[in-house]
Amino acid sequence: MLENRIRREALKNKIISAEEAAMLIKDGMTIATSGFTPSGYPKAVPLALAKRGENGEEIGVTVIAGASVGDELDGALTRSGVMKRRFPYQTNKDSRNAINNGALMYQDMHLSHVPQFIDYGFFGKIDVAIVEALAITEEGGIIPTTSVGIAPHAIKNAEKVIIEINTSQPIELEGVHDIYIPNRPPHRKPIPIIHPGDRIGTPYIPCDPEKIVAIVVTDITDKVRPLGAIDEDSKKISGHIIEFLEHEVKMGRLPKNLLPLQSGVGSVANAVLGGLVESKFENLTCYTEVIQDSMFDLIDAGKVTVASGTSFTPSEEGLKRLLNNMEHYAKHCVLRPMEISNNPEVARRLGVIAMNTAIEVDIYGHVNSTNIMGSRLMNGIGGSGDFTRNAYLSIFTTVSTAKNGDISSIVPKASHIDHTEHDVCVIVTEQGLADLRGTSPRERARKIIQNCAHPDYKDMLMDYLERAENGKFKHEPHLIGESLSWHERFLETGSMKIK
Ligand code: COA
Repeated sequence: MLENRIRREALKNKIISAEEAAMLIKDGMTIATSGFTPSGYPKAVPLALAKRGENGEEIGVTVIAGASVGDELDGALTRSGVMKRRFPYQTNKDSRNAINNGALMYQDMHLSHVPQFIDYGFFGKIDVAIVEALAITEEGGIIPTTSVGIAPHAIKNAEKVIIEINTSQPIELEGVHDIYIPNRPPHRKPIPIIHPGDRIGTPYIPCDPEKIVAIVVTDITDKVRPLGAIDEDSKKISGHIIEFLEHEVKMGRLPKNLLPLQSGVGSVANAVLGGLVESKFENLTCYTEVIQDSMFDLIDAGKVTVASGTSFTPSEEGLKRLLNNMEHYAKHCVLRPMEISNNPEVARRLGVIAMNTAIEVDIYGHVNSTNIMGSRLMNGIGGSGDFTRNAYLSIFTTVSTAKNGDISSIVPKASHIDHTEHDVCVIVTEQGLADLRGTSPRERARKIIQNCAHPDYKDMLMDYLERAENGKFKHEPHLIGESLSWHERFLETGSMKIK
């Protein structure tokens, strides 16, 4: 079996155990890894490294991965205290707690910026790349597995490379990847993608075989996350978006098969795409970051012809479906480095329709995607800014209330801002949709309150707006001392409602 996985004979003598490979990592090192969502991340070596910390060894490292990864990496290295610094995105509950209690240093970054940070050394020297691979070619090229993320940049820049050959990943994945690394400015050329399915690179990551110091063979599977059942609110949100897109086609502002779709992570995002299965749209394309379960439904229903992303992010059932029908899905999917999947140049050229999820939105259209009550980090901005800022149409969805109605997701002022009013075109909740294009802040506020806020909070929001409008400055009026009082009230009384 390994014949087909390690095709360069001389590399076979680099096979060692995960424990031996983990010993190559020293205190203070910076590690860059493959993986994007719980897909295609190294597992055996991080688990062995965590063991060293659990056994009392004083060892601390910086970890850079494409985005979030599975528990064998983020969870195990956080719990063992080995991971001291983490870039640029995470979703692990132990890492999140460690970040929020100050034990883990974290910078939450636009994902498209990360490869350039690695390339120019802004994170310092990359000591070791740990990359999960399907196989190594005769030339030493690394074939990634269920994601690409920053793997090409990790391999290019690291002093040493450790490869985890994962035999649980089906060999049929070969050919699905398209690896292209742009030159540095001023020698950078236009990225020649004019259709989401265009292939512009190689199906493997080039790697100098001399850099490969260890190969670990493992069969630990991707620990994918369950997706929430598609609830009534998500269905309503999806319905509002589809109606809006139909209207845009009628107005001649979108072609019949729309423009390439980007859809964020999570259950609502999955439901929004899922709604398109029943719609009359056909020949759709996707230029996105993560390929979730609903994409497989769209491909099977013949609705989506091609989906480009940097990762397959299925649920457990979705993973089985993917792995059992890899040849079929490979014909419709391309996995790219995240520098390309999230590239602003390509998103703007293709005219992407970006659909992402907000934690809260304020009456003027500023969006908080990352920090609950302004200071408790949830995950990070991920790719949402890469797409939102550069999309033809940027849409944010959120359910209008959280915590059983005690929190309004529409607030006077967002307690943290990731996406500004300048970048947000449309807000959608289960209540309705507000098209903010061509509106002034006060016009926007009325649309958002009327169309998107929950009825329990509409009067309170209008009261705030009208009192703010009585002030001296009329462009984007605020009562500064009062603008975050809703959040304070929730923290003090457990509800934003006035009792
Ligand atoms: N105020 C306070 N808490 C809120 C809230 C609000 N307005 N809205 C949601 N929450 C809480 C929920 O109660 C839940 O808390 P819990 O974990 O304690 O149960 C948590 O935030 C997550 O909410 P949920 O509705 O389950 O969110 P989701 O799974 O749809 O994810 C984001 C929403 C914003 C957290 C997620 O989409 C994200 O991390 N986005 C940023 C990155 C991104 O967009 N990536 C895609 C780019 S391609």
